[in-house]
Amino acid sequence: MEKFAVFFAFFSVFAASALSRTLPISSNPNFLDVSATISKTQGLFSHNSKSVLPSMREVHHGRPAVSSHSALSFDLHPRLSVRGTSEKNYKTLTLARLARDSARVKAIQTRLDLVRLGIVKADLTPLEAEVETEKLEGPVISGTSQGSGEYFSRVGVGNPPTQAYMVLDTGSDVNWVQCAPCADCYQQADPIFDPGLSSTFTPLTCDTQQCRSLDVSECRNDTCLYEVSYGDGSYTVGDFVTETVTFGGSQAVDNIAIGCGHTNEGLFVGAAGLIGLGGGKLSFPSQINATSFSYCLVDRDSDSASTLDFNAAAPPGAVTAPLVRNSKLDTFYYLDLSGISVSGELLPISPSTFKLNEDSGNGGVIVDSGTAVTRLQTEAYNAMRDAFKRGTGHLPAADGVALFDTCYNLSSKKSVEVPTVSFHFSNGKELGLPAKNYMIPVDSSGTFCFAFAPTSSALGIIGNVQQQGTRVSYDLANSLIAFSPNKC
Ligand SMILES: *[C@@H]1O[C@H](CO)[C@@H](O)[C@H](O)[C@H]1NC(C)=O
Ligand SMILES: *[C@@H]1O[C@H](CO)[C@@H](O)[C@H](O)[C@H]1NC(C)=O
Ligand SMILES: *[C@@H]1O[C@H](CO)[C@@H](O)[C@H](O)[C@H]1NC(C)=O
Repeated sequence: MEKFAVFFAFFSVFAASALSRTLPISSNPNFLDVSATISKTQGLFSHNSKSVLPSMREVHHGRPAVSSHSALSFDLHPRLSVRGTSEKNYKTLTLARLARDSARVKAIQTRLDLVRLGIVKADLTPLEAEVETEKLEGPVISGTSQGSGEYFSRVGVGNPPTQAYMVLDTGSDVNWVQCAPCADCYQQADPIFDPGLSSTFTPLTCDTQQCRSLDVSECRNDTCLYEVSYGDGSYTVGDFVTETVTFGGSQAVDNIAIGCGHTNEGLFVGAAGLIGLGGGKLSFPSQINATSFSYCLVDRDSDSASTLDFNAAAPPGAVTAPLVRNSKLDTFYYLDLSGISVSGELLPISPSTFKLNEDSGNGGVIVDSGTAVTRLQTEAYNAMRDAFKRGTGHLPAADGVALFDTCYNLSSKKSVEVPTVSFHFSNGKELGLPAKNYMIPVDSSGTFCFAFAPTSSALGIIGNVQQQGTRVSYDLANSLIAFSPNKC
C-alpha cells in the first residue's frame, strides 16, 4: 500500500511535469480556475455533501509513526473537516472566518503592546488584564473569536492517552488542555481530560524552571498555577503539570509541561486545548529541543489532512528567508521581508517599512499559523493593491467584502489570469504565490477578493491563506524559514 502511494506520488509528479509542457496554462501560477473553485464552495453546502462534512465527524488519524527516531509527526486537519459548520452558505462562513480573524490580529497586537509597555510580567488577573487591554485597544471583542485556529491536530494527553483535537498555534507558547474537574469549561467535541485517569500526571512545584518561565503564575500549597490571557478577554487558568503527550497514535514524549485548565473562557471552542508552537521556552518545540518544525496547511475547505513535523529537514528546493527574533518577546517568528513585487515589478516600498526595530520591539513581519489574511503595513498594502488593480483592469470589479477592498465578479468566467505576487527577502530569495493564495472566493456566486488587508499597526503578519498548500519549515537551528510550495 505504502509502496503504491510512493509510486503514485512519483507518477503524479512525472505526469504533471509532462502535462505542463503540453498545457502551459494550467501550470501557470497566475492561472485561477474560477469554475472549479465556485463548484467547490457550492459543494460544501449542497445536500449530498452531508457525508463529506458532518459536524464533528471522525477523520482519519493514527498515521503510522515516522521512520526516523528523532522526527515526530502530528496529523493536521482544517477546522471545517473536523468540526463541520453551522453556517448556511459560503458567504456567511467567510464572514464568520473574517470576524474570527480580526479578533486574532487584535489579540496578537495587544500581546505585543502589553510586552512593549512591560506589563505582561506583572501578576494580572484576567479581569485586570482585560482592563489593561481595553485601555490600549478601545473596546475588546470578548469571547467572540470562537476558536482562532483554523487547523487542528489529534493529540493524546496522559497515560493511557486521552485523544483530543487541539489547536496549533505559532502565536503562543503555553500548551494547555481543558481539565476535569471543570470550574468553567467551554464545549468541546472530545471528552474532557481527567487527570485522575492518568498515571503520568505530575503537578509542578513552584521552584521548577517550567513554573518560573510562566508569564503569569501563582503558588498554592507549593504547586504551580498558570494563567494565560489571549488579549481578547479569553483565558485559561489551572494547574501547571507535566504529562505525556502522544501523537501519530504511537509516539509519546514524556514530561511535557502543560496547563491543566480548570477555568477556560472564550477562545478555541471545539478544540480541547492548544499546542503552543511559539519561540518561547514553554512551547512544545522548545520543550522537546526541536531543531526545526514544519507544517503544511491544506486548503481550508478540503477534508484532506497534512502533517506537523518536528526535526525533519525542509524539502529540497525550498525558498528560504532569514528568521529574526524579537528580544522583547520570544514567542513570534519574524521574517526578514525586504520587498514585494506585482507582475514581476518590485514595488516602491521603503525596506524599512518591514523592519523590526530591535530597540523598541516594534514593527517587523511575523509568520503566523492562526491568522488567515496577511496584514501589511498600510503604505505597502496600498502600493500592492494599486499595482494589482492596474493588472486586472480587464476583470469586472465588485464591491468590497468585510476587510477586502479589491473584489471581482467572476461569475461569467471559467478561468482568469491575474498578476503574479511575490515576496522578496533580505537574502535575495523570492517566493512567488500561486493565484489561489490571493484571489479567494467569498461566496458561491463568483465574487473573488484580493486576499490581503492593510493594518494601521507597525506589525505585518503573513497569514495562513497565503501559506496554503505550502510546507512552511521553521529551521530554528539555522534561523531560517523555508517555504516549499506544493509539498503538503
Ligand atoms: C496541601 O498539600 C498537602 C500535602 O500534599 C495536602 O495534604 C493538603 O490537603 C493540601 N492543602 C490544600 C489546601 O490543598
Ligand atoms: C532539552 O535540553 C535541556 C537542556 O539541555 C535538557 O535538560 C532536556 O532534558 C532536553 N529535553 C529533551 C526532551 O531532550
Ligand atoms: C455578476 O455578473 C453577472 C453577469 O456577468 C450578473 O448577472 C450578476 O448579478 C453579478 N453579480 C453581482 C453580485 O453583481
